[in-house]
Amino acid sequence: MPKAIGEDQGVIVVSNRLPVSLECDGGICHSSPVSGGLVTALSPVLTASKGVWIGWAGAPDVEGVDAALRLFSEDTGYTLRQVGLTSEQIENFYFGFTNQIIWPLFHASNFECNFNPEYWRAYLDVNALFAFRTVESGDEDDYVWVHDYHLMHVAKYMREAGDCRRTGFFLHIPFPSVDCFKRLPWRAELLEALLEYDQIGLQTMHDRRNFIRAVSALLPHVTVSGRGQVVRAKIGSRTVKIGAFPISIDYKKFYKTARSASVRKSAQQVHKALPSSQVILGIDRLDYTKGIPHRLRAMHQLLTDHPEIQGKLSLLQVVVPSRAAIPMYAELKKEIERLVGQINGEFSVPGYVPIHYQYRNLSFDELIAYYRACSIALVTPLRDGMNLVAKEYCAANVERTGVLVLSEFAGAAAQLRNGAILVNPFDVEGVAAAIHQAYTMEKKMRQRRMDRMRESIRKNDIFKWVDSFFASAFAK
Ligand code: G6P
Repeated sequence: MPKAIGEDQGVIVVSNRLPVSLECDGGICHSSPVSGGLVTALSPVLTASKGVWIGWAGAPDVEGVDAALRLFSEDTGYTLRQVGLTSEQIENFYFGFTNQIIWPLFHASNFECNFNPEYWRAYLDVNALFAFRTVESGDEDDYVWVHDYHLMHVAKYMREAGDCRRTGFFLHIPFPSVDCFKRLPWRAELLEALLEYDQIGLQTMHDRRNFIRAVSALLPHVTVSGRGQVVRAKIGSRTVKIGAFPISIDYKKFYKTARSASVRKSAQQVHKALPSSQVILGIDRLDYTKGIPHRLRAMHQLLTDHPEIQGKLSLLQVVVPSRAAIPMYAELKKEIERLVGQINGEFSVPGYVPIHYQYRNLSFDELIAYYRACSIALVTPLRDGMNLVAKEYCAANVERTGVLVLSEFAGAAAQLRNGAILVNPFDVEGVAAAIHQAYTMEKKMRQRRMDRMRESIRKNDIFKWVDSFFASAFAK
């Protein structure tokens, strides 16, 4: 239980997706828990308070979902409540507003946003549905914690329905610069809705600065004051706390699993199967914000600039399937596969393939074995709220000889600049040079840098993140 809240403090978590994956066939659904930092950190809080997690089950509302959620709730000790969405709502809210407007706009991508007013209306309707579900859940003293860009209007609709419970919001993705944000046709409405929360959490100080600049530029009646991690916005008689709360991982879980005998053995097997002396790891959800083609071009540059590396250094690139129904993601997959084919065609020789490419999900133990087997991690998103792969790689690096090459545009860079080699992911030659620097780095230097990063992640784990969010929310 977070230190900041009492044992009996009720909590309601609201997020677009429920922490469960469902497979439904003929009206019967089977659930399996999804793992991930947020679930690991919030589940104990919800179990202790017999709380509620509200979200979408990830598919059109079908018979059998509620029964499967009830079974899941019996196991976990807290209630899962779904918000059922129609196919049209999924199309316009999820595929439309969140994936064709907010995601590219907030990541400042070159992708042209589709500012379709139908999408905006669907966004409002779906947020109202989530709000109504929340209003009818839990007890009157519960704290309502809403997560991510899908649900920025929930507090506004809760207030309109007369629900005055304390609310917090955390944005897991970056907040864009004011010039970028201003393109949104509904920019003032969105900011006003966000300011209906009692506390707004952003990933980094940079995101918080961007958010405050947008508020100052678009809502002149709001004044922001204060210093430090949390500042205050004054809107009439209301005060809203705005803070930077960098999300993290369950450090101990990664560290312990990495030390287990079975993972050690699997890591050795992975290493044996990839005969290069050093292996670089890239692991990302399929997404254009992750900079995978840029990274592959950097690999090409490296192999061109340093032919002596051929046979000695290879890249293991895992792409985790995501949003496959969106044409742009399908095109990105093709582009990645074309580049992998081209580079392997150019630089493979008998017994050596420079890029090992996998398009699939990994189990937790497999993931940790990959982290352990690779002596360099290449984490080069074009823009990322935090990027937990960077932190996970360090936590699992129990030999402390790994090198992290990290994009300066990942939220994690603010914390890990004390040990990572920071790169501009758009600078192909610069990334190639950074990989070469990592490859040739001596053991002592590797350990010194890795120790610094591991210590900082250990001290600031996911439980501390939850605690600091609540500590600020409940502070006077
Ligand atoms: C990011 C977002 C999450 C989202 C995840 C997967 O990490 O911050 O809120 O759930 O991507 O995307 P999806 O569209 O499949 O939910």
